[in-house]
Amino acid sequence: MNGEAAVNDANRVHIFDTTLRDGEQSPGISLNTSEKVDIANQLARLGVDVIEAGFPITSPGDFEAVQRIAREVEGPVICGLARAQKGDIDVAWEAVRDSERPRIHTFISTSDIHIEYQMKNTREDVIQGARAAVSQARSLCEDVEFSPMDATRADVEFTAEVCAIAVEEGATVVNIPDTVGYTTPEEYTRYFEDLYRFAPSLKEVELSVHCHDDLGLAVANSYAGVLAGARQVECAVNGIGERAGNCSLEEIAMLIKVRGDVHGLQTGINTRELARTSRLVSRLTGYAVPPNKAVVGRNAFAHESGIHQDGVLKERSTFEIMDATEVGFDSNQIVLGKHSGRHALQDALEQLGFVVQGDALNRAFARFKEVADRKKQVTALDLEALVSDEMHREGDAYELASFEVSAGSNRESRASVTVSLPEGGSASATAGGDGPVDAIFQAARDATGVESELREYRVAAVTGGEDALGQVTVVLRRDGATASGQGVSTDILEASAQAYVRALSNLVAELRAREESERSPSGEAKGP
Ligand code: KIV
Ligand code: ZN
Repeated sequence: MNGEAAVNDANRVHIFDTTLRDGEQSPGISLNTSEKVDIANQLARLGVDVIEAGFPITSPGDFEAVQRIAREVEGPVICGLARAQKGDIDVAWEAVRDSERPRIHTFISTSDIHIEYQMKNTREDVIQGARAAVSQARSLCEDVEFSPMDATRADVEFTAEVCAIAVEEGATVVNIPDTVGYTTPEEYTRYFEDLYRFAPSLKEVELSVHCHDDLGLAVANSYAGVLAGARQVECAVNGIGERAGNCSLEEIAMLIKVRGDVHGLQTGINTRELARTSRLVSRLTGYAVPPNKAVVGRNAFAHESGIHQDGVLKERSTFEIMDATEVGFDSNQIVLGKHSGRHALQDALEQLGFVVQGDALNRAFARFKEVADRKKQVTALDLEALVSDEMHREGDAYELASFEVSAGSNRESRASVTVSLPEGGSASATAGGDGPVDAIFQAARDATGVESELREYRVAAVTGGEDALGQVTVVLRRDGATASGQGVSTDILEASAQAYVRALSNLVAELRAREESERSPSGEAKGP
């Protein structure tokens, strides 16, 4: 996509997904490279126009993930974020250059608060920084996005001046961030009107919205920006992102689709992939989707009151404005039995969008058999949970080898846990605890020698029914770093042990990545 395409197709709103960049900056989320690639592939299937794959200067891990996505994911524009600094832009370009459609996104704050207290420089420095950054980025890449950070708290006339310079230097997209989620729909609309007035050249490029949800207005503000002329919305799956998060992708996509009658706009989103994308991101990030979340919450299409149930049975539109199938809530139709073979599994996985071959297929098949032996039927939701559980291990992690636990109402719970170690070999420990889960966690901690604080422990059923798979999420914290891990099994204790050991591995990886980024020349770039 470039400025030309945007101008030609006036009613098309481009969806710029920042789940892997702003979303990944949410506290406690740390995705490994293979998880990021899987999310990016699913975003491509969902039909997003742009994937902001990361902020490459921040760590070697971030760089590697952006580069792999640029090389492997086809369809969307692949974008890398860079401060308005030469080193950042060079590294962002290296990371995205192998994509068929690369983009560099560079930003600098225009608000006096940021200029005075954060950057400790002057408006003149901002003007020069923006000019140099866009010109450098444009010398490397045809598609360049510019963001005046904290725009909505900045002087609009000054922001317009900086944006006009970005356009002069060749920016193809200009994004207007509500960085701290402070604006309101009316104010944002006026802001766009003023920008166009002070900088008429903005009509020549695509304008974009990037709204945070601190006051719960991210979707409403994004929508206001679109009505005021923006044709790109920056958003994240399940609304994850810094602090209260970003505009939720599924909500803005359905708002644009369902209320097409009032604005005549469209996106390229295949809405039937929304529920699955939401589940994948929730599972891999450990961020639960609230049951009442619009569009993708478990209860988004559930009717409790008798009057509503009665109405929907007579005519769905009495109490529903969307059909559950429109957002992919019916994807539980594929069912495998315990005698299904490797081919049937591979087929079912392909229908679900997972290309699994070779060793990965063998591991998935072993896991499927293990579960199919304990469950009557394995549904699409089970397969999704199992495959994402199985596929995202990185080589250098602790693995749960085995565990045993004894517990009862009149005795102390005790557990023995054996883990295989990243450096090879295994380690075991036995410990007591306040209940079987606590005993397993203590034993796993003693076996690995990794100390941490348990921040969250969540259990959810993947599907309904007595033999449902249980999905456990564990969040651990140490030295200011937070990491989560998930486990899936018909046995909650086994899922808990897996989740804990994975969270430990992710925590160790996160602490290591922090050390690396502190050692790297731009160690201070931790995210805007
Ligand atoms: O919130 C923000 O301002 C950002 C920018 C980098 C676009 O995330
Ligand atoms: Zn942001």
